[in-house]
Amino acid sequence: MRTTDIEAPVGERRAVLLVVKSAFAAAPHQEMQRIAGLAELRPGVAKAISCFSEQGTPSLREALFELRDPSLSSIVIVPLALPLEPSFLRWVTKSIRRWQAERPGEWPPIHITRDIGQSLHFEPLLSNLIEGAASSLPIAPTPSLVAEGSLVPPQKRRVLVCTGPTCNAEGADALWGHLRNVQERRKLRATGDGTMTAKATCLGPCNLAPVLQVFPEGTYYGGVTERAIDQIADEHLLGGRVVDAFAYQPTGRKQRLRIVAQTSSTPKETET
Ligand code: FES
Repeated sequence: MRTTDIEAPVGERRAVLLVVKSAFAAAPHQEMQRIAGLAELRPGVAKAISCFSEQGTPSLREALFELRDPSLSSIVIVPLALPLEPSFLRWVTKSIRRWQAERPGEWPPIHITRDIGQSLHFEPLLSNLIEGAASSLPIAPTPSLVAEGSLVPPQKRRVLVCTGPTCNAEGADALWGHLRNVQERRKLRATGDGTMTAKATCLGPCNLAPVLQVFPEGTYYGGVTERAIDQIADEHLLGGRVVDAFAYQPTGRKQRLRIVAQTSSTPKETET
C-alpha cells in the first residue's frame, strides 16, 4: 500500500474510502454519506463510501470487503481524522494484509492519502471556517448544572481491549471498533451475564498483540482478529466457555509467550 496524492489519471475507475473514527447517531452517518456523494462526483471515481475505523458501520474492514472488485483500478483510502496517530499507517497496513488473507482472491491496489492537514487546500478551508464563525451557533452559558443520574445494567462480564503501543500497531483500533459493533448488534450489555467493554493501556503480554482480556475469569486472548471476537462473543461472553484457540493458558510455569502468525487463526505455542 502506498501513501499518495489523489490525482486521477485518465481512464481510472477508482473507489474512494473516507475513513472517520466513530459515530453513534443517524445524523453523522447521513453526513458521511453526503460527503461520500461529493467524492463520487470527482473525475475517475467510480464509487465512494464512508466507513469507521472505530465504532460505527460499515467498519473499515466491511467497507474494504465491499470494494473488493477486480474491475476497479484502485482503492484510495482517505483518512479524515486529525491528528493522525503515527501508528495509523502501520496498523492500517497490517490490518489490510490480515483482511486480504481472510478473503483471498483478486484485490485492486490499495493506496492511502496523506492526512488532510497536509493538503494544499487545508489553509483556505481553515480560513473559511474561521471567517464563518460569526454565523455559527453561539454556545450559551448554562445557568445551573443539574446532576443527572446513571442507570447501570447488571453486568458480570468485562472485556478490556489493549490499546498499548504494540497492540495499536497490530490494529487494536479496528478490533475495538469491531467489538463495539458486535456489542451493539448482539445487545451484549444486557444479554446473558451482561458485558461491559473498555479500552486499556498495556495489559502485559505484548508478544501476543493484539490482546484483550475477559473478566471475571481474567482470560487473556492473543493474536485476536475480527473472527476471533465473533467467536469470543458467541462462546465466552454468551456461552461462558473460553475459546481455547486464542486463549493464553496460564500454566503456572515460566514460559515464552506465543508468537502469532498474522494470517493464522490458531496461535502457536512456544512453551519452554
Ligand atoms: S501493548 Fe498490548 S499487551 Fe502490551
